[in-house]
Amino acid sequence: EAGRLLFRRETQFLKGVVAMDGLPPDDRIEICFAGRSNVGKSSLINALTDRKGLARASNTPGRTQEVNFFTLEHLYLVDLPGYGFANAPVKVVEQWQALMRAYLGGRANLRRAFLLIDHRHGPKPVDDEIMCLLDKAAVPFQAVLTKADKVKAADRDRTRDKLRETLSKHPAAFPEIVITSSETGAGIDTLRGVIAGLN
Ligand code: GTP
Ligand code: MG
Repeated sequence: EAGRLLFRRETQFLKGVVAMDGLPPDDRIEICFAGRSNVGKSSLINALTDRKGLARASNTPGRTQEVNFFTLEHLYLVDLPGYGFANAPVKVVEQWQALMRAYLGGRANLRRAFLLIDHRHGPKPVDDEIMCLLDKAAVPFQAVLTKADKVKAADRDRTRDKLRETLSKHPAAFPEIVITSSETGAGIDTLRGVIAGLN
């Protein structure tokens, strides 16, 4: 279907941006992947595009330190630095955190933000804070549970229900949650379909 067709086309890295004035022209539909450090943003982009090293992923929280733009057909895909703990100098972290927040609150062509939450842990206060920022900026966002392959049966419903409840308090949130694993590929086609449906 549409999602598979779209993601069969080549995704290309465009640029890494370190300041708002470095953003490319806002002449295309844009989607971004936001979430706490290490939640699996870069890995999800690689899974969606089926290109292992396209977005750099690693086990070190704070791997992605720039706002990275990729082009796919009529879309910009944007890999964001994470929020929360990062394994990097405080001054540097503060800079990229400020940029990430400015980006989320001030990008005219941002059609949808995908907000990634680790399925094992569910939403944290800092996720709620980012959701408030998106509400204020009127950026529609959709939650994606990541690392579904790692969640214990005992935590699965609890973390999903907690996320549902959190989303219900945010006017900019879509109620539908996409459950994914970049490891097994679960939910990846579903998410491709959601993205292909944006216009
Ligand atoms: P930052 O750029 O540091 O904010 O992290 P990120 O959100 O981009 O996370 P990244 O994609 O770099 O992944 C972090 C770690 O989680 C890596 O070791 C990945 O291999 C692992 N990971 C990501 N997605 C999954 C998944 O679905 N399942 C499993 N088991 N591991 C995953
Ligand atoms: Mg990353």
